[in-house]
Amino acid sequence: MKVQVCIIGGGPSGLLLSQLLHLQGIDTIVLEKHSRDYVLSRIRAGVLEHGFAALMREAQCGERMDREGEIHEGFYIAHDDVMDRVDLNKYSGGSSVVVYGQTELTRDLYEARDKMKGNVVHNVADAAPHDLKSDAPYVTYRDGDRLVRIDCDYVIGADGFHGVSRTSIPKDVLREYERLYPFGWLGVLSRTKPVSPELIYSKHERGFALCSLRSQTLSRYYIQVPLTDKLEDWPDDAFWAELKRRLPQDVAAKLVTGPSIEKSIAPLRSFVAEPMRYGRLFLAGDAAHIVPPTGARGLNSAASDIYYLYHAMVDHYKKGDDSGLEAYSQKALARVWKAQRFSWWMTTLLHRFPNNTPYDDKLQETELQYLFSSEKALGSLAENYVGLPF
Ligand code: APR
Ligand code: PHB
Repeated sequence: MKVQVCIIGGGPSGLLLSQLLHLQGIDTIVLEKHSRDYVLSRIRAGVLEHGFAALMREAQCGERMDREGEIHEGFYIAHDDVMDRVDLNKYSGGSSVVVYGQTELTRDLYEARDKMKGNVVHNVADAAPHDLKSDAPYVTYRDGDRLVRIDCDYVIGADGFHGVSRTSIPKDVLREYERLYPFGWLGVLSRTKPVSPELIYSKHERGFALCSLRSQTLSRYYIQVPLTDKLEDWPDDAFWAELKRRLPQDVAAKLVTGPSIEKSIAPLRSFVAEPMRYGRLFLAGDAAHIVPPTGARGLNSAASDIYYLYHAMVDHYKKGDDSGLEAYSQKALARVWKAQRFSWWMTTLLHRFPNNTPYDDKLQETELQYLFSSEKALGSLAENYVGLPF
């Protein structure tokens, strides 16, 4: 089989690119390792930059996002039993974010692919790219005993952190940058009314906490936990009790608790792989970079990769102009590293670091005091949170 663009990975990155290219008459195939139900069963983040939301509309997938998503013009940082509001609208020059779950967004992308009869193959085994340095790369995968070959012009590695694409780049070419954090996030999803109409990021001596939402009847909460903790250490009651301890008293008093419908622990990691191109292979999203979720950049960084790749591919196929493809890795990485910096800064500002010295703790407190005493500092936070220009 021959296609123009073969995409490995049916997560938000791969599906969004496939949809955008299809609308431009560029044919793609998406090869996904798992079933659709499995992909949609993963609970991930839910804060979209306005640039990403615009890209979803351009992909003709924004209707439900605009109908069910919430526009948030600010969020709170709770510390020392007080709540300080970050007015995104005021400090970003009138911008905001869209709160809409990644699971719903991915569902919308799948439905849009179906509507356009997009070629998405699930339960793909042993996908492997080949001849990436030639003018005729191809991807093989196993369908039961059958070995399937997809000839293509370009291969997109949108297969996440544990995918095959990044590992296809020779070690002497690939450089990896990583920072691991000495804690994780225990996340709970519950069919309860959110405790606040806007997100609350809480810095507390017992550790970080986050109050987020998916809708007015579906709440998402996180607490910082040691990496050694296990899910069985955290029955629902223990989770709710600890969350309340880490929130200002008046907020804790309003918290509606209930049975968790999803509960998971995720380690925190910062990771970047360079370059994001190797011959005819282009990496996008988690396949090339990971951020701790504190800055809500993961999905948005993936979307900016797709923005650059989409325009570069259209310029190539429609105008024979390869300048976008040539510049892709450098352009995408420039924005990725800004998201890395912001996510590291938010994580350092709001978490309890077990090995912090009293001096470190003082610096952390001062960083927060400076933030809420300086319009310029709030401006920097706001412009990064709503999304830097593409
Ligand atoms: N072959 C085919 N598909 C694969 C393979 C493989 N060898 N390995 C992984 N995949 C699939 C995964 O099953 C997953 O569905 O690739 C997809 C990658 O999707 P994501 O991990 O969601 O990555 P991405 O699409 O880049 O989205 C990034 O996801 O993890 C969040 O915080 C992250 O929000 C960010 C977003
Ligand atoms: C979420 O809603 O899951 C969420 C929101 C903001 C973050 C991280 C996660 O920074």
